[in-house]
Amino acid sequence: MGIRKIGVLTSGGDAPGMNAAIRAVTRTALERGWEVAGIRQGFAGLVAATFVPFQRRDVGEIMQRGGTILGSSRSKEFPTEEGRAKALRNLAGAGIDALAVIGGNGSQTGSRWLAKAGFPVVGVASTIDNDLCGTDITIGVDTALNVALEAIDRLKTTASSHQRAHLVETMGRDCGYLALMAGITGGAEVIIIPEVETDPEAVARELHAAYDRGKSHAIVVAAEGAKYNAAGLTQYFADREARIGFQLRTTVLGHMQRGGIPTFADRLLATRLGAAAVEALAAGQTNVLIGMKGGVETSFPLDEIAGRVKPLDTKLFEVARILSR
Ligand code: F6P
Repeated sequence: MGIRKIGVLTSGGDAPGMNAAIRAVTRTALERGWEVAGIRQGFAGLVAATFVPFQRRDVGEIMQRGGTILGSSRSKEFPTEEGRAKALRNLAGAGIDALAVIGGNGSQTGSRWLAKAGFPVVGVASTIDNDLCGTDITIGVDTALNVALEAIDRLKTTASSHQRAHLVETMGRDCGYLALMAGITGGAEVIIIPEVETDPEAVARELHAAYDRGKSHAIVVAAEGAKYNAAGLTQYFADREARIGFQLRTTVLGHMQRGGIPTFADRLLATRLGAAAVEALAAGQTNVLIGMKGGVETSFPLDEIAGRVKPLDTKLFEVARILSR
């Protein structure tokens, strides 16, 4: 049976660029003569049957907006047997034949469950964490990195004025990608990521050494998932302040990184992945994640992704260390 109507939802942590993906999915599907239903609040909206018909104009002027016009959630009900049965009933009741799920790791586990239950679904790789297997990059990463970079650049000016050491904490859950990339491009003296063990004494020595080499500031970029994140390292230094000899000023970027206007790169990535998701569904593909590999839109089996986190390539960690000297 061919597709007559698809649903589109955004799920998990929002990511700048999600709206461009919604727009691309909607308009490429309409172009094929399919109907489109926007589903509010992610998988929670499947359970609650909050479906809205989408026409071309309904997704106009949204590309430049951060967040997601559909809303998102981390649904508690959908992972339950009852919630999932309800979701499948609601999809059938609304005549929805296939689904595009724009989201990250947790969301694509939900997609895989639907596919296993026999419902055609494609995932669209979207999370600022860039920890999804099967894709080089995910929607939202570029914007989040630019937010982190701006923060680092700004903090450097005040750090220099006062000859202080500052720590900037990035998001990323258990993945150090955001911290590593923001750290290397922001010229941080020290980068702390969960993937590489950190000796806090070595960090203190490195910060001292930066001043000894004539630097007027010292910046640490730490991933939230690292043991020595903002809380961890600040506490360690505070407990030993007399010996270590300085305090750390800390800035936790938190959700700042997820908000705001998506960059060109995120709008383009989201547009390409959204359009490719519809193409994949039209070609009869299901249970796949649409991502970008080597600059080309690709589909990757969700079975090989679900429950896994993409390992971080730490090659640049050593380069960053050399460059920061
Ligand atoms: O997965 C995206 C992300 O922003 C992570 O970097 C972060 O750890 C988490 O979501 C925060 O989740 P919430 O917005 O639910 O607090």
